Amino acid sequence: MRFMRFWPLMIDSGPMAAVCCRRILQKMEGLLVADVNPTLELLHTHRCIRSFATDSVDEVMLDRIVEAAWRGPTSINGQEISLIVVREPRARAQLAEIAGGQPWIAVAPVFVLAVADFYKTAKGCQIAGKTQVAHEDPEGLLVGALDAGIAIAEMMLAARSLGLGVVPIGGIRRDPQAVIDLLKLPPLTFPVCGLCIGHIAKDATQKPRLPLASFRHDETYDASHLASDIESYDKTLLEYWRRIGRPDGLPWSANTAAKYQSRYYPDVKPVAQKQGFLKD
Ligand SMILES: Cc1cc2nc3c(=O)[nH]c(=O)nc-3n(C[C@H](O)[C@H](O)[C@H](O)COP(=O)(O)O)c2cc1C
Repeated sequence: MRFMRFWPLMIDSGPMAAVCCRRILQKMEGLLVADVNPTLELLHTHRCIRSFATDSVDEVMLDRIVEAAWRGPTSINGQEISLIVVREPRARAQLAEIAGGQPWIAVAPVFVLAVADFYKTAKGCQIAGKTQVAHEDPEGLLVGALDAGIAIAEMMLAARSLGLGVVPIGGIRRDPQAVIDLLKLPPLTFPVCGLCIGHIAKDATQKPRLPLASFRHDETYDASHLASDIESYDKTLLEYWRRIGRPDGLPWSANTAAKYQSRYYPDVKPVAQKQGFLKD
C-alpha cells in the first residue's frame, strides 16, 4: 500500500519518468530487503529465555554457534578471546550458584563462557621477542570486554537462527575468582560473560525499551528529552510487568538505581589485578 503514491509517476513516460521508475524500484527493493529479512527479523524479535528444556543441544549446532563467534571481528585482530564450553551438569550447577542462584544456568544444557584472554596474546608477543604490557592498562580490559561482548552477540544470533533460546550471564562476575578456579583459567585471563544456550521450554515476551530517541542520536548527543523519556518508559515497563504477571517488577529508574547505587561486583577489580590486569 505504501507504494501507491508512486504510481502516477510510473505511468508517465520519457527519460525523467525512467529515472523516477528506477529510483522507485530501488526504494521498493530496499524496503522489501529490510522488511523480509530473516536476520533482521531475529534481531528485532530478541528476547532472553530463562525457561529451558534439559534436552541436549546437537553437537553440529553447537559447533556452528561457536564458529560464528570465532569468525567475529576483534580489536587489531588480537583474537584475545577464548570460549569455555561447559556442558558438565555439576559445573553448571556450581556456576548457577556463583552467579547468585540463577537456576537456568543449571537447566540449560550448554553454558559458554567468554574469557578475555591476554595469556594467548602474551605468548604471541613472547614469540615475537617482546613483552606484552597492554593488559596492564584499562584499555586492555576494555578491549577484552568489548570483544567478548561481540562474541556473545554472534553466538546469540547463531543460536537463535537455529531455533534455540539464549540468555547472557554477567552474574558470573559476582565471584570471578570462583569461576577462574572452577574452569582453570590461567593468569592474564578474565571471565567476562557467559551465555546459556538450550531448547526453549517457555518462550518469553519481548521487553519494551527506552524510547528510540534516547538511544539514537543523530550527529551529536541530544539529552533534551531524556528525563521525559525515562518517565514515560518507567510507566511502559510497569505496564509490561503487570501484563506478564510480575507485580514485583520495578520501573526502569528504580531497578537501575537498585544496582548502580553500589559497586555491585566489588571483586572484579582485585581479581582482575591478581590476574595481571589494571596495573598502576
Ligand atoms: C552483558 C549482559 C549480562 C547479563 N547478565 C544476566 C544475568 O546474569 N542473568 C540474567 O538472567 N540475565 C542477564 N542478562 C540479560 C538481561 O537481563 C536482559 O538482556 C535485559 O533484562 C533485557 O531483557 P531482554 O534481553 O529479554 O530484552 C544479561 C544481559 C547482558 C547483555
